[in-house]
Amino acid sequence: MDTIHIQGGNPLKGTIQIGGAKNAALPLMAASLLTSETLRLSNLPHLADISTMSHLLSEMGTRVAMEGGAPNGGHMGRVLALNSPDSIETTAPYDLVRKMRASVLVLGPLVARFGHARVSLPGGCAIGTRPVDLHLKALETMGAEIELCEGYIDARAPDGLSGAHVLFSNVTVGGTENILMAATLARGETVIANAAREPEITDLANCLVAMGAKITGIGSDTLKVTGVEALHGADHSVVGDRIEMGSYAIAAAITGGDLLLQGARPDLMESVTDVLKMAGVNVAIEEKGLRISSSGSLKGFDVMTEPFPGFPTDMQAQMMVLASVADGASMVTESIFENRFMHVPELVRMGANINVHGSSAIVRGVGHLSGAQVMATDLRASVSLVLAGLVAKGETVVSRVYHLDRGYERLEEKISSCGGIIERVKGQ
Ligand code: EPZ
Repeated sequence: MDTIHIQGGNPLKGTIQIGGAKNAALPLMAASLLTSETLRLSNLPHLADISTMSHLLSEMGTRVAMEGGAPNGGHMGRVLALNSPDSIETTAPYDLVRKMRASVLVLGPLVARFGHARVSLPGGCAIGTRPVDLHLKALETMGAEIELCEGYIDARAPDGLSGAHVLFSNVTVGGTENILMAATLARGETVIANAAREPEITDLANCLVAMGAKITGIGSDTLKVTGVEALHGADHSVVGDRIEMGSYAIAAAITGGDLLLQGARPDLMESVTDVLKMAGVNVAIEEKGLRISSSGSLKGFDVMTEPFPGFPTDMQAQMMVLASVADGASMVTESIFENRFMHVPELVRMGANINVHGSSAIVRGVGHLSGAQVMATDLRASVSLVLAGLVAKGETVVSRVYHLDRGYERLEEKISSCGGIIERVKGQ
């Protein structure tokens, strides 16, 4: 298996282009199941999870084609064209769903358009049990009959879904996306209350509107959807990845660097830039993007993860690296997932001083981190180890690189183009 080798200590300076958001691209791809016409998605990131979703959709009978591309054979400028004909295999098998939980996003579109879906239950993952009960309850409210059988969700609505008042008892990103997609083809009006407001949901809603859906309240916690007979094709550009942007912002902050981050919207990550400012990092919104610079002298801060517009759980591990090298103590509280501190023992092996008490971690800043051999069990934990490696003394070797490949496009290339010493070593 490949490993990533990092020599810490160099400040990152330069410009990094941020790609399209993985967590927007995945539901957008699933939305192609809602129409027999072609959905064209541009600014799609080149990531393992995108390949997995392409694979799942093509196994089900969606025609997935890459159009265009940069003249040098690169993937910039490529457009993914997705076309789901009227005859589709409405089963999402275990082998693919177990690889990527976001596969469950095909459930809502399949039931809404075809009246039937059989989707493997995703099961837990490294960061928590992550049930999908809220997705299922909401679909039942819309008239679907749901049975759990042999590890599969069997959902049926032979006469179509009906509009309903869906109140989520907890904010759920995937649940909101599944029901939003399903409601576009339901009979009558659906109100989704306590909806998640993440920018990736706004991106999905905007794409659905371009496909002919009738949605109001976009960006708020109450979405109103009036079902239509059919949706049509559309062209849509995936919103930039605010988590990729935030991860590189921390790379600049902890290494005492100066990075211009282009291609994502700084206005969608104020909760992150607010904490960076609290920590003494310089944050400037420029015409071309977000500039993050720092002298390397950082202060402790307190932060708690919350649904958008709060501080994102997907930035918690990275922010903990910053806290580890800041002056004083910080408190980092995780309120979304029950087991999202898997990076802590690895950071401690690199010299960090972190104590976890329930859902909070007290981080006492240390003079320096030391390079070590480390590995992590999920995507954001893995990138936090890369960040720690960039500021640590000596060499850090990060294994289980496949986690990084799920969410960070050309990570080593982007970091090394700004002066970081990082390389991927191919496994035997
Ligand atoms: C999305 O996951 C993201 N994934 C996650 O990003 C992100 O961490 C998460 O939202 C929170 O922001 C994608 O967009 C593909 P949730 P999702 O439903 O939709 C509980 C990354 O690193 N819950 O908002 O699965 C759940 O267990 C990933 O890119 C239920 O109890 O998250 C969790 O505690 C990881 N029942 C909380 O709600 C349900 O039916 C929020 O989960 C659904 C969720």
